[in-house]
Amino acid sequence: MIERRRSKLHGWGVFATTRITKNTRIIHYAGEKITHRESAKREAEQAKKGHIWCFRLNNRWVIDGSRGGNDARFINHACAPNCYAQIVGGVIWIRAAKTIEPGQELTYNYQTDGKKTIQCLCRPGCKTRL
Ligand SMILES: C[S@@+](CC[C@H](N)C(=O)[O-])C[C@H]1O[C@@H](n2cnc3c(N)ncnc32)[C@H](O)[C@@H]1O
Ligand SMILES: [Zn+2]
Repeated sequence: MIERRRSKLHGWGVFATTRITKNTRIIHYAGEKITHRESAKREAEQAKKGHIWCFRLNNRWVIDGSRGGNDARFINHACAPNCYAQIVGGVIWIRAAKTIEPGQELTYNYQTDGKKTIQCLCRPGCKTRL
């Protein structure tokens, strides 16, 4: 259904290889389950390299996709995305927000709450920071 390829948005991205219908659970965001305290430490290090890998699961836990992660960690952010994240039973699912055609890049809105150091490149002139 998907594969990792170089992206025009940033570095690696994840692309549909088949048509994906709206609301399909495409992939879950895998990684190491860590506390917010540990996540804050790691995020400071990761941010120096211009990367965000930590995904907030709930008030207690964060999933660090850089350790034990799967291809979901390569899905880029867009402000007008074609996917959304949904947390069900402690699992972060990336689901299709609309029908996605083969060859289209998957994106979701990261809804970051950190220091917002990264300029979003989803479209020319985007003012969002990640
Ligand atoms: C979860 S990774 C996504 C995979 C990344 N493209 C890679 O090659 O490692 C998140 C990082 O990708 C980059 N990124 C994702 N979406 C972006 C966007 N819309 N604009 C600029 N950078 C983006 C940022 O550096 C962010 O920290
Ligand atoms: Zn944007």
